Amino acid sequence: MSNIVIIGTQWGDEGKGKIVDLLAEFADIVVRFQGGNNAGHTMVVNGEQFISHLVPSGILQQKTCMIGNGVVVDPAVLVKEIEYLIARGIPVGPDNLKISEKAHVIMPYHKAVDLARETMKGDKKIGTTGRGIGPSYEDKATRIGIRFADLIDPEIFAEKLHSVLDEKNFYLKHYLSSETSDAAAIIEEYSDYAKRLADYISDISFELHEAVKAGKQVLFEGAQGTHLDIDHGTYPFVTSSNTVAGNACCGSGLGPKDITGVIGVVKAYTTRVGSGPFPSELFDDIGDRIQKKGAEFGATTGRKRRCGWLDTVILCNAVRLNGLTGLAVTKLDVLGGLDKISICTGYEYNGKILKEFPASLKVLSACRPVYETLPGWSEDISGLRDISALPMNTKNYLKRIEELAEVPIQIVSVGPGREETIVINNPFN
Ligand code: GDP
Ligand code: IMO
Ligand code: MG
Repeated sequence: MSNIVIIGTQWGDEGKGKIVDLLAEFADIVVRFQGGNNAGHTMVVNGEQFISHLVPSGILQQKTCMIGNGVVVDPAVLVKEIEYLIARGIPVGPDNLKISEKAHVIMPYHKAVDLARETMKGDKKIGTTGRGIGPSYEDKATRIGIRFADLIDPEIFAEKLHSVLDEKNFYLKHYLSSETSDAAAIIEEYSDYAKRLADYISDISFELHEAVKAGKQVLFEGAQGTHLDIDHGTYPFVTSSNTVAGNACCGSGLGPKDITGVIGVVKAYTTRVGSGPFPSELFDDIGDRIQKKGAEFGATTGRKRRCGWLDTVILCNAVRLNGLTGLAVTKLDVLGGLDKISICTGYEYNGKILKEFPASLKVLSACRPVYETLPGWSEDISGLRDISALPMNTKNYLKRIEELAEVPIQIVSVGPGREETIVINNPFN
């Protein structure tokens, strides 16, 4: 039996949704374990596009979907997403979607604090998605968060809300010059979510354990990417959760011995939304061309994504941090038509080549990317379904990625559609 974790190796938007949707066919359960609706995962099935922010991408394959304790959930967004999926003909209900009773609830003041702080920071802002993710994880760590188990108990919910709201409002009004929240209005709004979501709430750790014992296969859906990890990313330009594979266990309540493989999703070039260092970023026509051809706009905020060459310094970092057992290379079709393709294979700092990804942003910002250049290909590869049919230069590009990462490529994606994929070695085999 296989239980596989899917992780973004870069700064998010690698195409995790597509890979999860594809592999969900072979899994019984698909689990989100961190992040919240800062994520935007796109799936394209029979020409129809679906974007999910909270519901695991296994929902289109009609698998049991679970939202683990490590996720921070905005109930307003979840209710809307369930309605959106149902309206699009995808059945969603307590039988196929389960929310951990320990998952934290995003409150109106989390969103207000997130947005007001970013405004206050001006050009020093992180460029967050403004969805209240950071402030919600802050409350979890400070032990004043509200969990789904609390949401569905009106007395406890009111008590917990009253115990934090004065402080939140004081901070919002007097420090951030922002709107305050009203307890009665929150209670009214959230009691409606509690009613609508109560039947979805469950003990995910227990259910996962029972499922694994019964021989079911689990697919873990990472959100964001390795370099947005709160510990290992380009801090402070990161998200507020651990995005690396180890958190699949903490964020779901399944022990590490049950994980059998970790697939790192690698976009064939690099993108980043929001602020923060990006050594291989392109500021020229090629960057523009990749942005346009790759339709690189954020699936959550619609912001234009910054684009650059593939960076194998960060890829190797992701291999180590996640214990990757395989790679899924996505958006390879987007690079078609370029005469030459570069790969950033090292960072030069003070005349020396750095072997490790530096923790200091001061050092990172002074690094100069070192490139290796390979010949490109002009063919449209989006119709190809067999690795041997790829043009020689495309094969060489993939081979070089494998050599540098020292991890085999198991899946190659050549278009957004589920079928626009070359599976070299299915991780569930
Ligand atoms: P995620 O957050 O990692 O799930 O990625 P996003 O959904 O935010 O962004 C990936 C975008 O690329 C989406 O619009 C996908 O439909 C699209 N996509 C995924 N794989 C491919 C591919 O191989 N080729 C092309 N052209 N688009 C792809
Ligand atoms: P998926 O799962 C790309 C980025 C934001 C910002 C930083 C912090 O679709 O790959 P946050 O709102 O989390 O506090 O913002 O992290 N970010 C993402 N970038 N893809 C994502 O998710 C992201 N989720 C957060 O742009 O720079
Ligand atoms: Mg995304």
